[in-house]
Amino acid sequence: MSDPHRVLARDVPPGADDPIFALNAEARRRAAAGESIVNATLGALIHDDGRLAVLPSVVEALREAPVERAAGYAPIAGDPTFLRQATLDALGDGALAGAATAVATPGGSGALHLAVSNFLAPGQHLLTSRHYWGPYETMATHAGRAVRTFETFDDRLRFDAAAFGAALARSIDEQGRALVVLNFPCHNPTGYSLDDEEWRAVADAVREAGRRAPVTVVIDLAYAAFGGARARSWRAPVASMLDRAVVLVAWTASKAFTQYGARVGALIAVAEDAATREAVAALLSVACRGTWSNCNHLGQLVVGELLADPTKRARTEEERTELVDLLDARVAAFRDAAAARGVRHPRYEGGFFVAVPCADGARTAARMRDDGVFVVPIDGAVRIALCSTAVADVDRLVESLAGALE
Ligand SMILES: Cc1ncc(COP(=O)(O)O)c(C=O)c1O
Repeated sequence: MSDPHRVLARDVPPGADDPIFALNAEARRRAAAGESIVNATLGALIHDDGRLAVLPSVVEALREAPVERAAGYAPIAGDPTFLRQATLDALGDGALAGAATAVATPGGSGALHLAVSNFLAPGQHLLTSRHYWGPYETMATHAGRAVRTFETFDDRLRFDAAAFGAALARSIDEQGRALVVLNFPCHNPTGYSLDDEEWRAVADAVREAGRRAPVTVVIDLAYAAFGGARARSWRAPVASMLDRAVVLVAWTASKAFTQYGARVGALIAVAEDAATREAVAALLSVACRGTWSNCNHLGQLVVGELLADPTKRARTEEERTELVDLLDARVAAFRDAAAARGVRHPRYEGGFFVAVPCADGARTAARMRDDGVFVVPIDGAVRIALCSTAVADVDRLVESLAGALE
């Protein structure tokens, strides 16, 4: 028989099947066979009764969308109203937004792809924390780049700013530039949000590194709309980096507007110097054309309108608050149950996931599966998707976890 891969001009990486989807499939199979299952694997917000949470105002806006206008191509860089509104939503209406340029992307994933392929040369690595969203690696390696990590937490389970600073310096020594990807607030997979002191430490390290070489910092805001009080506290320290770094924001409607399938996102670039900003805008526009041509027009028109119209915006925010409350009830139940059973975890104040450190994530997750509880093993931890766990199941989940950790 001929080699089935002969037709492919590149290798198929091992483990190409997404492990999270495989675990989810097993959980569903066992549940369908009648077993009582807690499935905390998937990263979408699900109501306690198992329905996907969607914002009614968004569904209504989609139904009423100007379909004839949407049938035409969107501008290559994106719909101007959408881009303006996404920029204001991400950055506020202060100095950051004044120094920004943006392009539309298919979700946050598209924004991350543009960052990796335009701010690193082939063979270079991006820098992120040891615990990271797996597709960062897929995106980087598929684009001929790589991922390098630094320790996420210190002994006190606080952000390890010293490890970050040292790794950043090493990246610059080795490749003469750095691309940092930080998914705070509401980091996937740990749930962590940096506090003011931690953001200041990040900004100090970036400013120091930016004296020596070009540094770009990506803030992946995928879950920020669920971040409560900390959701915007990154803006001031990040603004303080601008004299030494370019800041990119990966913005997405997937979670904030519960439209995972609409593929609406933006890469927002903030550069203090106008000439840099113009060069970045020109390159990103060419990169859009050369990658996906243009993005979902209907989604951009709808999300742009929902953000621009004060009445619609207020309604969407109100509905989103209900979802934040739904999630926060699970977060509180998790924290209480973990404290009662002595399960140690990083500070967790909101967001879709939390990760609990353990010696062997695969072993812990396998033991929990014996109890009918599905979580995702990751490097030195298990990831628990509270976004898809009913509040009534949280206690059972933590009890299984505590047993598996013994
Ligand atoms: C950390 C992180 N960043 C970015 C994304 C991008 O999602 P999307 O491409 O749907 O906007 C996700 C989605 O799960 C994520 O978990």
